[in-house]
Amino acid sequence: MYPVIEWKDHALVMLDQRRLPGEKKFVVHRDHHDVARSIRDMVIRGAPAIGIAAAYGIALGVSRLEASPDLGRPGFLEKAFRDIVSTITTTRPTAVNLFWAAARIEAVFAQSRNDFPRLCRELLAAAQSLDREDYEVNRAIGRNGRKLLKSGDTVLTHCNAGALATAGYGTALGVVRAAVENGMKVSVIAGETRPYLQGARLTVWELQEDGIPVTLITDSMAGYVMKRKMAQAVIVGADRVAANGDTANKIGTYSLAVLARHHGIPFFVAAPLSTIDPATADGDGIPIEERDGDEVRMFMGRATARPQTAVYNPAFDVTPAALISALITEERILYPPLGKAIAALRGLRRRSTSARPGGGRS
Ligand code: MRU
Repeated sequence: MYPVIEWKDHALVMLDQRRLPGEKKFVVHRDHHDVARSIRDMVIRGAPAIGIAAAYGIALGVSRLEASPDLGRPGFLEKAFRDIVSTITTTRPTAVNLFWAAARIEAVFAQSRNDFPRLCRELLAAAQSLDREDYEVNRAIGRNGRKLLKSGDTVLTHCNAGALATAGYGTALGVVRAAVENGMKVSVIAGETRPYLQGARLTVWELQEDGIPVTLITDSMAGYVMKRKMAQAVIVGADRVAANGDTANKIGTYSLAVLARHHGIPFFVAAPLSTIDPATADGDGIPIEERDGDEVRMFMGRATARPQTAVYNPAFDVTPAALISALITEERILYPPLGKAIAALRGLRRRSTSARPGGGRS
């Protein structure tokens, strides 16, 4: 219905999420610099979708080297590849899926770099399979997670961890979708998610497109909503889960987890294994992106504070594992202690990523 990201006619096409819900416009990317800009500028966002964009972006960048007269020169391809990976991976530091996807693409490069036409075919095939895989992973997260809900429940969610943030279907919203598809009556309360409004602009839009009942609140209403027992569960996505289960997600998630604990409401994180970062011991090691202060000084393009106002604008926060009731993955639901449950996961190895994230923007 709304392809978030699609490979079409030798180019990468993305739905421009900055314009939703007002306009459905697409951005066409013809090289990896375009893709890096779109990740940084939030044309595409959400951890799994960023990873998919990164994989396609690297494949696109390599395919453009075909026109270079230096292609046959010793060492040229290796250096150009490293530059492309670095351009893509220095866009947003928190979502580990970006580095996970780049590492998968690097493994393909290492195997096929001696045959350029084959390399291009295989890099694109790897990006496409990562894209398809993510959709299946979301379906499995949904199937697992719906068991935590019962008909009549209302789920409070934050930011957008839906079809728009993934290859389709979604993680947190995938759980809701799977419950609804299973005949359960489930509705959603979406926090608007200041300052970037992913909840108001994206979550509300995609649930309405699917006919799933959704009510919008401002972030500051969450405590009152919980006190009035208007939500039976909180379900959010994740940008990075550390080895001990501490979870980085959109700023405001931590406050919801504290409120949920106080009100005795279960707080669930829905995330694919690709979002678990066993190389980061705990939440203190997760790099938190800081974004432009104007996102806070302004609202919908209009100033709400003086231009010289000092602003702190972290895009994510970290919820301690102790506040998480369960982590819903495609493999199974993990229960506390999360560190132990993560260590016991099959298919999760210490991953090496060529560019470790860091830094941010002021
Ligand atoms: O800044 P964003 O919009 O990329 O932040 C997105 C989130 O925080 C999501 O909750 C997270 O990436 C999970 S998406 C399945």
